[in-house]
Amino acid sequence: MGGTLRLFAVILLGARALGDVTTGIPDAAPPGFEEWISPIFLPTPPVAGIGDWASAVQRARTFVQGLTLEEKINVTTGIDIFGRCVGNTGTIPRVGWKGFCLEDSPLGVRLTDFVSAGPAGINAAATWDVNLIKARGVAMGQEHRGKGVNVALGPMTNMGRQAAAGRNWEGWGGDPFLAGVATAATIEGMQSVGVIATVKHYIGNEQEHFRGGSEAAQIYSSNIDDKTLHEVYLWPFSEAVKAGVGCVMCSYNKINQTQACQNSKLLNGVLKEELGFQGFIVSDWTAMINGVQPALAGLDMNMPGFIGYGIGPQDEEDPATATNSWWGAAIIEMVNNGSVPESRIDDMVTRTIAAWYKMGQDTGYPDVSFSQLTEATFLNGELVNEHVNVQGDHYKIIREIGAASTILLKNTDGALPLQVKNLKRVGIFGSDAGPNPDVVYSVFAHSRGCDQGTLAMGWGSGTANFPYLIDPLAAITAHIQDIDKTVVVEGVLDDFNLAQIGNVASLADTCLVFVNADSGEGYITVDGNAGDRTNLTLWHGGETIISTVASACPNTIVVQHVVGPVLVESWIDHPNVTGVLHAGLPGQESGNALVDVLFSDGSQATNPSGRLPYTIAKLRTDYAADILYTSTMQTPQITYNEGVNIDYRWFDLNGITPRFEFGFGLSYTTFAYSGLQTEKIGAARRAESPTSSAAVPVPSIIASTNPASPSKSANVTGSESASVVPASVTSQPHVSSSASASASILSAPPSASSNATSTASAPPAASSPVGDIGGPAALYENLLAVSFQVKNTGNVAGNEVSQLYLGFPASFGESPKVLRGFTRTMLNPGQTETVTINLRQKDVSVWDVVTQKWVIASGTFKVMVGSSSRNIHLQGTFEL
Ligand SMILES: *[C@@H]1O[C@H](CO)[C@@H](O)[C@H](O)[C@H]1NC(C)=O
Ligand SMILES: *[C@@H]1O[C@H](CO)[C@@H](O)[C@H](O)[C@H]1NC(C)=O
Ligand SMILES: *[C@@H]1O[C@H](CO)[C@@H](O)[C@H](O)[C@H]1NC(C)=O
Ligand SMILES: *[C@@H]1O[C@H](CO)[C@@H](O)[C@H](O)[C@H]1NC(C)=O
Ligand SMILES: *[C@@H]1O[C@H](CO)[C@@H](O)[C@H](O)[C@H]1NC(C)=O
Ligand SMILES: *[C@@H]1O[C@H](CO)[C@@H](O)[C@H](O)[C@H]1NC(C)=O
Ligand SMILES: *[C@@H]1O[C@H](CO)[C@@H](O)[C@H](O)[C@H]1NC(C)=O
Repeated sequence: MGGTLRLFAVILLGARALGDVTTGIPDAAPPGFEEWISPIFLPTPPVAGIGDWASAVQRARTFVQGLTLEEKINVTTGIDIFGRCVGNTGTIPRVGWKGFCLEDSPLGVRLTDFVSAGPAGINAAATWDVNLIKARGVAMGQEHRGKGVNVALGPMTNMGRQAAAGRNWEGWGGDPFLAGVATAATIEGMQSVGVIATVKHYIGNEQEHFRGGSEAAQIYSSNIDDKTLHEVYLWPFSEAVKAGVGCVMCSYNKINQTQACQNSKLLNGVLKEELGFQGFIVSDWTAMINGVQPALAGLDMNMPGFIGYGIGPQDEEDPATATNSWWGAAIIEMVNNGSVPESRIDDMVTRTIAAWYKMGQDTGYPDVSFSQLTEATFLNGELVNEHVNVQGDHYKIIREIGAASTILLKNTDGALPLQVKNLKRVGIFGSDAGPNPDVVYSVFAHSRGCDQGTLAMGWGSGTANFPYLIDPLAAITAHIQDIDKTVVVEGVLDDFNLAQIGNVASLADTCLVFVNADSGEGYITVDGNAGDRTNLTLWHGGETIISTVASACPNTIVVQHVVGPVLVESWIDHPNVTGVLHAGLPGQESGNALVDVLFSDGSQATNPSGRLPYTIAKLRTDYAADILYTSTMQTPQITYNEGVNIDYRWFDLNGITPRFEFGFGLSYTTFAYSGLQTEKIGAARRAESPTSSAAVPVPSIIASTNPASPSKSANVTGSESASVVPASVTSQPHVSSSASASASILSAPPSASSNATSTASAPPAASSPVGDIGGPAALYENLLAVSFQVKNTGNVAGNEVSQLYLGFPASFGESPKVLRGFTRTMLNPGQTETVTINLRQKDVSVWDVVTQKWVIASGTFKVMVGSSSRNIHLQGTFEL
């Protein structure tokens, strides 16, 4: 029966795999989308062992030298979803290699006990505090390590292109620079304790509907032009590579018609050649739809190993003999029949083992001590869970981030913070204020596929089990009780008992309304929401609860636990709604973190400084893009027509007034800005396109049967490797070519011409100057320092998040305003600090689609410093 299923799948998949990396023919596009195809880029640049990866790669090469093909296969292919982790490679008993445990999630260790359930990525981003983000990474890294996880499946850095996208909350919002900083800091934190971090999902995986997977009937193609790819979607991935990330996960979807995990342009060309990535690429779980093509395109690890969920046997235990796999035993055939050179297999293993050495996992690394399948101690009589408690004191950083990520959206006449001494009778409304009535902490523990009780994380694989969850009602009651036991606190947790809600509200002097909106991963549908939200409004009739309370209570405070933007037009201007806190998804310390911001009694007073990592629009249609919910096409086409103009950039470009702009957030104090200065602190260096080191042998089948014109196009790859690019894809329909015309490369070495065009056609260096990690090193060097003074002009201490936006010289096709720096500064009343934000060469560069390089945009830049993307306090210019 399994065999029948598998046969069916193979026929189905074979029919739709139109392109073929082995013949150099890219996947074909449907009519009307002809320009959106992906070039073939071969061969895979073998790991070069550059930078601080040198010794790890060297040791990995030695390790791999002694292995048999079967042993190598064990490193590349997963086994058995009934293993202890969500992903398990084989082992190599002969040399004592214990294999890898790969485990979700981007906010903690998924599917086990005695772990913390921290704030979601979107909340970490809302702090705009790189130290807090890094500390969160360290805490998550310690927990993964403590449980014996080798490869943690986070951070996630897909962009918030569509406000309703189901997994936005796992990532960092709508700006690539903010996402890049958050991704890099998280990786540095996680890997500092020896866990291999995984940046995902590479790339263009911006919605859940039709996202793919080998079982899917329809898989969308994200059609992204080259400039937009580099400046927006790739940006955080390149920062991740620069930060030394050990693992990249390719996504389920296609890009320009070609499946991400077999897109040679993106894996070989962009990630391994252009960015010099030294680690390994793992498939998202069953994202492969073929075996040979991903191997040649640069994929290094197949997870979870079998072909598809429900297709064929799911429990094969030895990768090297596994037959229900695109790899496994098939690798032996691929090597024997010449379709994949064994050197490519060696490179897969070298990259994987290099990451293991790089993080120091070869010595003293904890063994796996849990099972994703159960929180019980034994499974089938076998000890699988030692209940190792890895929480440490992480509740502290979770609470701190919870408070620091809470965004104050409205505060009429200082309604907030509350002080218990002013309260007599408090009403608390909405199921979001209380515990889950079914199972207090973890109904649907494995995925949180429900929306009951207070919302502190979304659903899907990006979750962890709560050890406990402090709900707002409990925390607020405890806080008030601590100070004055005579205050009346009444809660109505039934969202639909409006009579009771109105009644209690009319008696209260202060009313707190809790509302939420949830989303998650597409394999679970909650209340009709298949991952992506169906709407941008509140769940459980939240708007009605707010209006019912506000019409009866003069001091109505709204608290939102939401996965992303929610439209607030129906109630935000209500005169009785005096305060709004946007608390996002704070994790296990939710109620405590909220109390820290809500009240200013005694020592418990955190001045809110969270800032929106996305725009809250007035209308859903104001956003640049929306979810594609329905399509009859086999490959639904999602074309990123807005180019680089997502989120606030779109609103700025089109003069649309948002309700709350990107970067917005109020404080209990006020700040004044002065003294803007821009100073040149570095010399611009030419950012050379990296060229590959020794080329891997090209399997003869590729070279001999390639029908496309073998133009070694400096225009597209700048590389000497055997890259085949059909002429039709070199045009850039959505990008003006003016960028290259006026772009200048400053301080180019004397040997190189001073204009970009001729630089591009300069012959690549003959010997092997290998690319720097993350792209040319010069890009990451500081070029300018922007400084200014910030003063706390109010009465209470607080953090100010200063934001630096650039207006690029006209003609480079950039958005009116682009975030390029931020700092969170603690200031006491009356205190002034000088804030300095450095701009790297990359921050003032644009991606030149003709030369395939970052080039400094020459001309007059506008520099704008403010408290949000629209509340700009200081403006100046500089010339480059
Ligand atoms: C996708 O197609 C566009 C338009 O031709 C092109 O600019 C871009 O480089 C392509 N990207 C990939 C990864 O194939
Ligand atoms: C491959 O891994 C499996 C599972 O751990 C193990 O049983 C087998 O012995 C390994 N094969 C080789 C050749 O090391
Ligand atoms: C080589 O083997 C692989 C794995 O079985 C198979 O998919 C591929 O079609 C074979 N290629 C040739 C040219 O026989
Ligand atoms: C929006 O979706 C939520 C969750 O499914 C639902 O409760 C709510 O009624 C929807 N709102 C509208 C206006 O349809
Ligand atoms: C505000 O609350 C008061 C009760 O204190 C109520 O009388 C009034 O109608 C409310 N305002 C609105 C606009 O609903
Ligand atoms: C670059 O592109 C132009 C225009 O498409 C083409 O004429 C030229 O030959 C290309 N240069 C190289 C080195 O391929
Ligand atoms: C730029 O390079 C091209 C091609 O080498 C050359 O024809 C042109 O004169 C150069 N322009 C400048 C300003 O150096």
